[in-house]
Amino acid sequence: MLPKIEKISVQKQNISTAVLFQSFESLSNYPEIDVDYLEEKLAKETDWTIFKQPLVYFFHHSKEGKEHSFQLEAARQAGSKFYDVLKNEKVTLLQITGNSCDELTLAFLEGLLLSGYSFSKYKKEKDDFVPSEIFVLDDEVSENQIAELQTLVKAVFYTRNLVNEPLSYLTATRFSEEMEKMGADAGFTVEVFNKKKIEALRMGGLMAVNKGSIDPPTFNIMEWKPENALNERPVVLVGKGVVFDTGGLSLKPTAKSMDYMKCDMAGGAVVAATLYAVAKNKLPLHVVGLVPATDNRPDGNAYVPGDVITMFDGTTVEIKNTDAEGRLLLADALSYAKKFNPELVVDVATLTGSAEIITGSQALVAMGNSAENLQKLKKVGDEIYERMIEVPLWDEFAKPLKSNIADLNNLGVREAQTSIAGKFLEHFTDFSWMHLDIAGVAFLQEKDSYRPAGGTGFGTRLLYHFLKKFN
Ligand code: BES
Ligand code: ZN
Ligand code: ZN
Repeated sequence: MLPKIEKISVQKQNISTAVLFQSFESLSNYPEIDVDYLEEKLAKETDWTIFKQPLVYFFHHSKEGKEHSFQLEAARQAGSKFYDVLKNEKVTLLQITGNSCDELTLAFLEGLLLSGYSFSKYKKEKDDFVPSEIFVLDDEVSENQIAELQTLVKAVFYTRNLVNEPLSYLTATRFSEEMEKMGADAGFTVEVFNKKKIEALRMGGLMAVNKGSIDPPTFNIMEWKPENALNERPVVLVGKGVVFDTGGLSLKPTAKSMDYMKCDMAGGAVVAATLYAVAKNKLPLHVVGLVPATDNRPDGNAYVPGDVITMFDGTTVEIKNTDAEGRLLLADALSYAKKFNPELVVDVATLTGSAEIITGSQALVAMGNSAENLQKLKKVGDEIYERMIEVPLWDEFAKPLKSNIADLNNLGVREAQTSIAGKFLEHFTDFSWMHLDIAGVAFLQEKDSYRPAGGTGFGTRLLYHFLKKFN
C-alpha cells in the first residue's frame, strides 16, 4: 500500500506533477505556466487547483502568514486532494516539485501517502489505489527523511489495520501474534504472557474483565533497547487492548455504541505501531510497550456489579459497572510498569465516551502529573496535527471513586468522567505519567481528508515524533 519514492534532482518531462509554491514569483521557473491565470484561480478560498491536459498538474499555494502548524496541515490536506485526483485519473507515475522547504514537501507527501490506505482484505471487489512511483524534487528533502516518513506511514497503516480487524479475526491471542510479527519485522522483542502466567502474577483487573470470555487474555511486553540509547531509564508506553467491548453484563446498546467497539484496542495498536516505527527507524531510545489484551463479554461466569476484585498491586476495587473495564486492565499494566523504573509512562486508551464529547474527532484528551511532558506533547501534536486538550486531575475527582467496602470503585459519576477515569489510573502510578484518552479520535464513521473511515491510527505519529524529540 506504499508507492516507491525516489528523490530526483532534475525535473521530469511528460509526467503528472504537483507544484508546491509559496509565492507566485517563484513560479517564474516554469515558463509553461500562465501565472496570472493561476493567481486568478487561486484567488478564491482554496489553496489548490488542478489542470488536466491530459497530464495532471496540481498546484498547491502554501500561504505564508498562517501559523506554521496550519500551513503544514494545509499541505497534508492538499496532498490528500492530489491523491483523490490521481485515483480518479488513474495516474500511477508522478513527481512532486517542492519549494525548498523540506517540512512542507514532506507534509504534502505525508497527506498523499496516508490517503492511500484501504482495508479491503474482506472484499472481493477492491477499490485500492496506490501510485506505483513518486519522484520528489526538493533539494531540502533528504533520502533519509523520505525513508523515515515511509516507515511512519506504514506504522500508521498497521494501527489502522489492527483497529479495523473485527473480533472474528483479532482475538487477544491473534493480537499478540500480530505484535510478534511486527517485532520480527522491526527488530524489537515481544514477550507474551498467557492466561496461566497472568493468573500466577495475579493481574486481577485483566482477569476480572476476561472472566466472561471464552478466549484467553494476553499480556504483551514489547521492548526496543538499542545500545546507543540516550536514556538510562526507559519510556514505557501502555495501551488498552480490549479487542471487543460489549460492556459485559452492563451491556452496551448496539446502535452507535457497541457496534464499533472493535476499536477498543486502538491504544494497544498505537503502542505496538509506535514501537514498530521507533525500532524500524532505529531511534536511540529505550522504549517498552505494555498491552493487556482481552475481550469484555457477558457470560455465565462474567464479572458482575458488586464484585470486589484484587488488582495486581493489591488494591481492592468494587465493580459498579462492568463497562468501565479499560481502567481495570490498564491499572494492572501501570502497576507492572514500575518494574522498569521508568523515566516516563504514557498510556493510550479509548477509555471514556465523554472524551469524544469534549473533543469530537479533533483531538485526544490528555492529563497527567508531568507538566513538562504534557507541554512537549502539545507542541508536537500541533505540528503534526494530532492535537490534544488537557483536562485537570483535581483531588476532588477522586471522591466519587471511593467505596464503602473496598479501596476504590471503578465507576465514579458521569460528570467529568474523563478526568475521573484518569484519576482512577493515577492511583496506580508513582512515576512521571501521562494518560491519553483517544476515544473520540481512534475511529471515524466518515472519511476526513487523509483520515479514512474506520481506524485512523491517531496517536502513532504523535508518539513517534514525541519520542524522537524526547532527549
Ligand atoms: N470503550 C469504552 C469507551 C469508548 C466510548 C471508546 C466510545 C470509544 C468510543 C469504555 O470501556 C466505556 O465503556 N466507558 C464508559 C465508562 C462508564 C461506564 C463509566 C463510558 O464512557 O460510557
Ligand atoms: Zn467499556
Ligand atoms: Zn472499553
